[in-house]
Formats: sequence, C-alpha cells, structure tokens
Amino acid sequence: MSVTFQAPGRANLIGEHTDHTDGLVLPAAIDRGITLRAELGGDRIAVTSDVVEEVVDVAADGSEMPEGGFGRFVAAVAAELDEAGRSPVGLTGTLSSDLPQGAGLSSSAAVEVVIAVALCAAADLALEPMELAALCRRAEHRAVGVPSGIMDQAASILGRADHAVLLDCGTLEHEVVPLPAGHGLLIMDTGVRRQLETSGYAARTEELAAALPVLEGRRPAEVDPEELPGLLAQLEAVPARRLRHVVTENARVRQTVAAFAADDRARIGELFAAGHASLRDDFEVSVPELDTMVELAVDAGATGARMTGAGFGGAAIALVVDDRLQEVTEVVAARYRERHPDREPALYRCVAADGAGRRD
Ligand code: GLA
Repeated sequence: MSVTFQAPGRANLIGEHTDHTDGLVLPAAIDRGITLRAELGGDRIAVTSDVVEEVVDVAADGSEMPEGGFGRFVAAVAAELDEAGRSPVGLTGTLSSDLPQGAGLSSSAAVEVVIAVALCAAADLALEPMELAALCRRAEHRAVGVPSGIMDQAASILGRADHAVLLDCGTLEHEVVPLPAGHGLLIMDTGVRRQLETSGYAARTEELAAALPVLEGRRPAEVDPEELPGLLAQLEAVPARRLRHVVTENARVRQTVAAFAADDRARIGELFAAGHASLRDDFEVSVPELDTMVELAVDAGATGARMTGAGFGGAAIALVVDDRLQEVTEVVAARYRERHPDREPALYRCVAADGAGRRD
C-alpha cells in the first residue's frame, strides 16, 4: 500500500540570517512543498523524482552517500536517523514538487523533512518536532556542508495554516502568531538561481563570527540595539556591518510580532523596508533583482515587502491586502520584465499552511 507525505516550503516573514547565531525568526510554512508517495519497507531507500532525472538507491541506514544531487539529502537524513536509533527500514517512492528549486523557499529542507517523516513512519519511530528539525538540520550539514541554521526545517515541521512561527533558535521555544487579517502572501521569484553551497552563505557566517567576541558570550538577540555604537567601535568595518544587521534584525522580529498583533500596517511596512535595507547594505546578501522586486511591490501598494531566505538571488515576499493581490501581482510582473529583460520572474500567491505530515 502506498502512502503520501508532504513537507511544505517556507517563506520567512522577518528574522533573516539570525538563526545561525541562535536568534529569532518568523517564518511561515507555505501551501507549496515536496510530496513523497511511497511504499514503506525493505532495506533500501529507492527514490525517483519528477523534477530531476536522478535515481536514488541507498542503504536504509544511510551508510552509502551519493556524490551529488538530492540523494545526498536522502542518505544524510537516513544516517542521522540511524544515529538517533531508528531501525533501518527502507521505502520505495517518488518525490514531486510544486516548490521552485533554488528560489530561497527551502526546497532542500522540504526534501529532508519529507524523507525524515516517511522514514520515521516506516520504522514506527516518533520524534518530538524540534528533535526532528534539529536532525534534519544536521543532515543538511552532513549532505552539503553548509553551516545553515534551524529555521527552514523548523518552519516546515511547525507551520500552521494562517500563522507564522515565532521561534527562538537558541532556546528552541516557539509559538504561532496569526498573520495580519485580510492579507495574502505574494512570493516574487527573481529568476536568479543560487544554491546555498555555492553562495556566500558560509562567508557571511564567518564574517559575523569575527564580530561575536565583543558580545562576551551573549547572543546577538540579547543585545539592545542602543548598545551598538559602543560595540561596533571595537570592530573592523565588515564584521561591524554584519553584527549591526543581526542585532537590529532580532529587534525587528519582536517589533513585527507587536505590529501584527496591533494590525499596524504602516509599521509592518517600515519594518519590512528596514529589514530589506539592512540585508542589502549591512549583511550584503541582496542582489539588484531582489531590490527591484521589493521596490515594485511597495510602489504597487503592498503593505510590506522584503527579500526572503538566504539571498544572493531567489525570491522576495510581500504582504498584500487580499483585494489588491491581483493588481500588485500583474503590475510587479510587468515592470520587473521591463527592468530585467534577461530574467524570467515567477510570482506565486500563497497562504500559510500546516507543517509536514502524512496526507492521506
Ligand atoms: C537559509 C538557511 C537558513 C537561514 C536563512 C537566512 O535559508 O538555510 O538557516 O539562515 O538562509 O535567514
């Protein structure tokens, strides 16, 4: 008997590049993701995909690691689960996706999570949600060596329809937060592709790490932005900019949660704009195409817009009141094509969705 599992992608509303220093994030799982239809059992994990031509066939205990492709994520998840004590029961299945790859919507985390959920079901293993997220994060490191944080995997697991997830990546405390009423999420894929493993992600984490000693053991999330002038004066220019982004971004997460609760749309717009500017100027992970998307969405009437995910390409998001969504989508797509004729944008209207699980 075949069974179906699905793990959503995520759109981060705010709290970007804060998770790798144990900070605050506010992502939502979205109604697009990766689906696995599989027969459970056997001692191999045999997976094909309707997105890429790759046939994965690895030992159920994760002891064989393919050299490239999505099979690395499959094998790494199996290896992490093996270390967590899972009995090596395999599966045979097919992955399908309605999540654009390389767009900054966490397609690799969704693959890890859907495989993990299915392998847990195959071996009758129950893990706590954050234990599963941490395991999938370790699998990402094992598979591609990127020092990413826990946000993407946690969002894919903890998501709730119509809500964002406020997660403290240090304490792992989390709660769901209602999204502003009467709003939809518009995802604006620039068409600029990147993979975390070849992006500047690891370089940014190293530059930030060079700044952390001035905090004397505190996390950036524990620093009041008013302390910044004194702290930054002790640093070289690049680490100082990286730290300023992360400290102010953690503050913006708290402020955005308050603005959502107060339905203060002007404030949401200001916070998203400040977050984008900080990623562009201080963390230096935006690209001109992302800046264009944000500018066009705001000009067309979005409540707020900013790049989402790691940057270096990928997508921006906008919060837009429902009755303007159609118009904003059309205007942004048309103007973006005029400004970047060499790029093919893709705009998706999304809603916040439930986290990963069995779907039949
Ligand atoms: C990628 C990583 C996440 C996070 C974001 C930036 O999506 O996988 O852990 O660091 O970038 O916020």
